Amino acid sequence: MKIAVIKESRVGEKRVAITPRVAIQLCKQGYEVWVETGAGYNSNFSDESYVNAGCKIVTNDEAVSACNILVKVNAPTPNEINLLKDGVVCISYLYAAFNPDLVQQLTVKKLSAFSMDAIPRISRAQNMDALSSQANLAGYKAVILGADYMGKIFPLLMTAAGTVTPSRVLIYGAGVAGLQAVATAKRLGAIVEVSDVRPETKEQVESLGGKFIEVKSDDVAKVEGGYAKEVSTAYLLQQKEAVNKSLYQADLVITTALVMGKKAPVLISEEQVMQMKLGSVIVDMAVEQGGNCALSELDKIVVKHGVNIIGQSNLPSALPQNASELYAQNIQNLLTHLATKDGFKWELDEEITRGTLITHQGEKRI
Ligand code: NAI
Repeated sequence: MKIAVIKESRVGEKRVAITPRVAIQLCKQGYEVWVETGAGYNSNFSDESYVNAGCKIVTNDEAVSACNILVKVNAPTPNEINLLKDGVVCISYLYAAFNPDLVQQLTVKKLSAFSMDAIPRISRAQNMDALSSQANLAGYKAVILGADYMGKIFPLLMTAAGTVTPSRVLIYGAGVAGLQAVATAKRLGAIVEVSDVRPETKEQVESLGGKFIEVKSDDVAKVEGGYAKEVSTAYLLQQKEAVNKSLYQADLVITTALVMGKKAPVLISEEQVMQMKLGSVIVDMAVEQGGNCALSELDKIVVKHGVNIIGQSNLPSALPQNASELYAQNIQNLLTHLATKDGFKWELDEEITRGTLITHQGEKRI
């Protein structure tokens, strides 16, 4: 079977779906890997490194029109879908619930499309879980980005000219991105505090050296499919009361609060921003889901009431080399689970297939 790896066309996207290291494994498994010229360049993988891995370098049209499997980071474009043969398997992020036209086009074209954002959060699918592998890197990058906009350093510094006190970092959400942000901010020497609606995250936060902010309430969040469910408005008010002191002292705030399938909860209002320290920074990682801060704007850095609010999406693309390495590994693990070089197994009721296969043989499965 021929796998096509093409250059991502989304504006600002630097990742590539398959790296030379993963291509070596796929070639060993018996796949042919056709790579569009320059596909890996922005992730620091040269055409030569793909050739050395056993891939064939081709044009975009050649790759798309000849392949049996198209692997991408972002969803295929309408033009790419048109060029594909009937029955081709696509593997990429699809965010199917938000892209009905895309799902319709994939269905009409009788393509089988697996969505990397729909991998179930279960133990045996962990090595395929692209949302987690990418959120982990994004949590790191959010701290580095925030640090860049601060007028302060993170660690305690004792010098002949005086003592510099450590920066205070507040993190909302101790999931994949949040915990990596805790670890990164701690490594840089900050005092780190964390709020999460799942009390079980306290231990994880403390194991990384962070302080967990307790909310006195019986109304804790339930977890379904590995994701937190919505909490009540009363709980959110209690959370505000518990966290506000830390918010008003913070030099950097990273927000990662996510409730699966819902708009992001607004945890920082304009009134709260007005009480934050002059020059402090908010990195709103939930900006694509509407934002955890009421004032954040998608893909913009705005200054409101003296606070820098960063709403950058696609942070993994700012670390394209590592992000591509991990994403490619996720793809290979999924592919190994679903197929052999001779074809797909099509075990339609198996849990991972059921979760990720969005269209198949002209049928929508969501
Ligand atoms: P996750 O599901 O692992 O973690 C989210 C956490 O938020 C959970 O621990 C949950 O309990 C917590 N949470 C829910 N409601 C809360 C509340 N009211 N207060 C405090 N915590 C609350 O999700 P993950 O993978 O860590 O992603 C976090 C966010 O970052 C998502 O919105 C995701 O889309 C976003 N993200 C953004 C990127 C970017 O480039 N800007 C890249 C990767 C992820």
